[in-house]
Amino acid sequence: MAEEPHMRTPRVVLGVCGGIAAYKAVEVCRRLVDEGVHVIPVLTDDALRFVGELTFNALASEPVQRSLWDEDTPIPHTRLGQSADLIVVAPATAHTIARYAAGLSDDLLMATLLATRAPVILCPAMHTEMWEQASVQENLATLQRRGVEIVPPESGHLAGGDSGVGRLADPAVIVARALAALAGIVSSDLAGVRVVVSAGGTREPLDPVRFITNRSSGKQGHALAAAAARRGADVTLVTASPIRLAPDLGASVHRIDVETAADMERALGEACRGADVVIMAAAVADFRPKVSAESKLSKEDGLPELVLEPTPDILAGLVAQRSKGQVLVGFAAETHDVINRARRKLDRKGVDLLVVNDVSAPGAGFDHDTNAVAILHAGGGTTMVPLTSKDAVANAVLDSVIAHQKENRSPT
Ligand code: CTP
Repeated sequence: MAEEPHMRTPRVVLGVCGGIAAYKAVEVCRRLVDEGVHVIPVLTDDALRFVGELTFNALASEPVQRSLWDEDTPIPHTRLGQSADLIVVAPATAHTIARYAAGLSDDLLMATLLATRAPVILCPAMHTEMWEQASVQENLATLQRRGVEIVPPESGHLAGGDSGVGRLADPAVIVARALAALAGIVSSDLAGVRVVVSAGGTREPLDPVRFITNRSSGKQGHALAAAAARRGADVTLVTASPIRLAPDLGASVHRIDVETAADMERALGEACRGADVVIMAAAVADFRPKVSAESKLSKEDGLPELVLEPTPDILAGLVAQRSKGQVLVGFAAETHDVINRARRKLDRKGVDLLVVNDVSAPGAGFDHDTNAVAILHAGGGTTMVPLTSKDAVANAVLDSVIAHQKENRSPT
């Protein structure tokens, strides 16, 4: 199927220079690919002293490019520079910053930087003394004046046991800046769609200092909210997790922090009215103390008697009050007979899609940055998403939501 113009896959040249932070560029590459970006890595000779070409070849959208003089691809710099939507250089060394400021095209990366009209983001990384050099700062100021965006380094541990300013910015920050620069090119297939996501494990108080909760971190729910916002949706995130969202999402995600299942039920009841898509990624506690003591329980008062009661089934309430065309997505965590149990749960819950985690699988589920899921469709199909980042899982869930909407709009 031909891509709609606004859904064209954006192309990013990822320039990697010779600094110890080159290993973090691997993470930048992987995250950009997970976000649906076509990444072409261009490594300098010195970058290859720090990180293997094979690593990028395995993760990027195209093999590594490193030479101006490759007979199979004549004038590679003009092809790369002209076709790029964005060039990100991470890490950018003092040497590369100086060459760029001076307009020296002495290798493929520099020639590509000079042969492009695309926006450029430089992410410097170097020792504090080098970072503070007047020459480095003046070169950066020159480049900034010319429209180059700088993602400044952070303060922290540096190579050789030193510590100070100069550490490459967090890959998540670099990717967020890159996606912001690509806004309008990155798929905006959820533009105008109102999406509500719940996240995190609720806390059910026993007294003012103690509570019952579960092992959910909220990372998958937050990744869903972020991915939906980046795809143009108008997102409300009802979360029981303290984790922060990337700063660039501040405006496009309306965040409501809650603590208990009862709080979450109230907030979702409001937020879901008129929503097009509701994704229940929260791990709502199934039970709560029947009574929460007003003051702290003390050992002096003897062993407290713990009487539990069920929490409201929020998803069941949302299914009962769903508006026409609203897509409801449930989550489930299973440890055995995963697909069969999930299929029964999907039928029982009456949702359109059920995302099931095998929480016993290595690297999947609670508190990991990676996940492996199966997405079960009420119509009968199953999409398997093998172990990958939670961002990539989020995009796969959103793809299934869009596929479901399309199927239900045009019955065959
Ligand atoms: N859920 C909910 N309210 C609850 C419990 C769960 O809305 N009180 C939602 C979760 O957010 C999730 C889905 O229901 O989207 C499935 O939760 P799960 O706990 O796996 O389902 P249960 O029906 O409680 O099944 P089980 O007996 O396997 O725990």
